[in-house]
Amino acid sequence: MPIEVALKPIGVFDSGIGGMTVVKELFTTVPHEAIVYFGDTARVPYGAKSRETVRRYAREDTELMLAHGVKMIVVACNTVSAVALDEVERMAGSIPVIGMIAPTAKEAVRATRSGRIGIIGTEATVASKAYEEAIAREAALQGKSCETFAAACPLFVPLAEEGWTNHPATHLIAEEYLRPLREHKIDTLVLGCTHYPVLLDVIQKTIGKDVTLVNSGAEAAKLVAQQISEPHTPYPIPHTLILVSDMPRKFQQIGERFLGRPMPEAKLVTWRESWVVT
Ligand code: DGL
Repeated sequence: MPIEVALKPIGVFDSGIGGMTVVKELFTTVPHEAIVYFGDTARVPYGAKSRETVRRYAREDTELMLAHGVKMIVVACNTVSAVALDEVERMAGSIPVIGMIAPTAKEAVRATRSGRIGIIGTEATVASKAYEEAIAREAALQGKSCETFAAACPLFVPLAEEGWTNHPATHLIAEEYLRPLREHKIDTLVLGCTHYPVLLDVIQKTIGKDVTLVNSGAEAAKLVAQQISEPHTPYPIPHTLILVSDMPRKFQQIGERFLGRPMPEAKLVTWRESWVVT
């Protein structure tokens, strides 16, 4: 194996900060891999934007990943995974692409006992019905009968970024969003957005302790570990390059909270016909 192949990083991108919850999982499943992360903080949120816009952003984000010579692309954003995974795969060619939806749907179908599965995500993810379709495919493969119930929870994103993980307002909003799913008697809930693991305790308390929560980042990170066939990069500690399109300092503050540990300084990249690191 030529050394430059072994040294190639895994590219991870998200609409902003939320993908740090996926990086946190990657630090556990592939601790010696180098990672190039891009958070599109200038254009976040993607979840409230049109399919066409998200697909264009996804193409530009993929271009940045490919410019860094990545050996794999992890689409850490559920919204991009739901509406633009095919665009990323087309541009990546032979480079493997891991999205959030397929591994999460597989685990949700495996975990459910009653077959009643809830899905929460951004407006764009819920509107796409990508999780419903992936769960239906998985259910057929696993020989199970599943019914799905979805709810968009857009306010969870700013609440997670604000750090309101146990604030009364967060509990009230969670009750409003999750009550219908509770009434549908789901036994498994897909956390179909990067930010939701930050609000795990509130979500679990509101939906009920017997409901299994499936974390999309954790499922995708397990799949990354299974697919890495090349030798690990020989770094003693994870080598991580963080790129953002706006507000690097703020990214760093919130990112460290999402990651639960200090992280390297975030660098600014600007789109000027091509991406330029400044
Ligand atoms: N990263 C997005 C997702 O996982 C949430 C934030 C956004 O709307 O851009 O769907």
